[in-house]
Amino acid sequence: MSLDQTPRTRPVAAAAPVGSPPVGSVLPPSTTGLDPARSCEPAPVAAPVLQIEGLSVDYGYTQDPVHVLRGVDLTLGRGEVLGLAGESGCGKSTLAYAALRLLPPPGLVTGGQVWLHDRDGGRRDILALSDAELRASRWTETAVVFQGAMNSLNPVHRVGDQIADVIRAHRPQTTKRQRQERAAELLELVGIAADRARSYPHQLSGGMRQRVMIAMALALDPQVLIMDEPTTALDVVMQRQIVEQIAELRARLGFSVIFITHDVSLLIEIADRIAIMYAGQIVEQGPAQALYRAGRHPYTQALLASFPPLHGPKKDLTGIPGSPPDLARAISGCPYAPRCRFALERCRDRNPRLGASAVAGDPGSRQVACHLHTPGQSLPETLAGAWPPAG
Ligand SMILES: Nc1ncnc2c1ncn2[C@@H]1O[C@H](COP(=O)(O)OP(=O)(O)OP(=O)(O)O)[C@@H](O)[C@H]1O
Ligand code: SF4
Ligand SMILES: [Mg+2]
Repeated sequence: MSLDQTPRTRPVAAAAPVGSPPVGSVLPPSTTGLDPARSCEPAPVAAPVLQIEGLSVDYGYTQDPVHVLRGVDLTLGRGEVLGLAGESGCGKSTLAYAALRLLPPPGLVTGGQVWLHDRDGGRRDILALSDAELRASRWTETAVVFQGAMNSLNPVHRVGDQIADVIRAHRPQTTKRQRQERAAELLELVGIAADRARSYPHQLSGGMRQRVMIAMALALDPQVLIMDEPTTALDVVMQRQIVEQIAELRARLGFSVIFITHDVSLLIEIADRIAIMYAGQIVEQGPAQALYRAGRHPYTQALLASFPPLHGPKKDLTGIPGSPPDLARAISGCPYAPRCRFALERCRDRNPRLGASAVAGDPGSRQVACHLHTPGQSLPETLAGAWPPAG
């Protein structure tokens, strides 16, 4: 398995880890159209391990590219599970691929930094690593379970050999026996009997194949794991088992996770914090329970109202009227404005930055990109619900 990386200024297709797309490249920054009037304080996160700053991505090499990510700021704390949710097409996978330099052509990083923090306090920008540094960092420091990854196992190789291959690529000094033992140990770690290492992918269920991909991602003890819709193709029972397993492994091994899904209700089972994405931007982030119970951004509330409640009486589910903006067109103001029932005059031409929630008592870790959270602006009652609820 080759882990080659492209030059930073020219898009070239290159081989990448199993299940991954080929690699894109990095170009000079472009404008994000964010409102300079609203200050952007990073959310306080204890001991960050991955810090994404102002990440912008375009698709297309023409004069008229699609602006898919527009100045995304996101921080993952050490040992934390950060859930990333949003409608299909909002840019979740693009964010994951771009942050780890696995963006498929015609994707181009047009701005930003992605800082990987060491335990000793040092940090390196993943987007500025040399090819050799990047190769050394992949799988050992960062790993990804790609969307639909379970279908990307090689059908003609035993799953144990495929895990051993990852180890051989990065630890060529290990013996074949050591690699096989480690592969068996990893399978057991994710709840698969060690003797299934000799199975071919078609001999395993979908849930087992997905666990094999998780075992592979954990093979070299990465400190950061990005999981892109790791349970979407599975039935709800299997979904729950895998989510519980990831939580248990995280507690045991101490890695940090960005867990991507369009199902916010799944996130409160596993995430410490949740970030909500819309049209290539983070529009809200905060502690998982608080955000789930009392969304502060109109889009968060609309998204949450689209899922059935986990507890309590049944309620009518409301979809979100309208559709997300066409990212190929310039967006001058808040991208949610055409669908937002609270839109103000300024929302049409000023794109709000992510900043502190205006609700009294909310901690600094609750951040919202919405003009309603500007000091002096009156906030609709529905967006200002108390959390924890009074009484
Ligand atoms: N190769 C491409 N060329 C042009 N646009 C693209 C390309 N790949 C993705 N996009 C666009 O980028 C946007 C973000 O796509 P992305 O796959 O990151 O979304 P997502 O949030 O992961 O969606 P999903 O929940 O469906 O997986 C979408 O609007 C998509 O149409
Ligand atoms: S900035 Fe304006 S349009 Fe955007 S979510 Fe807030 S109120 Fe609605
Ligand atoms: Mg996706």
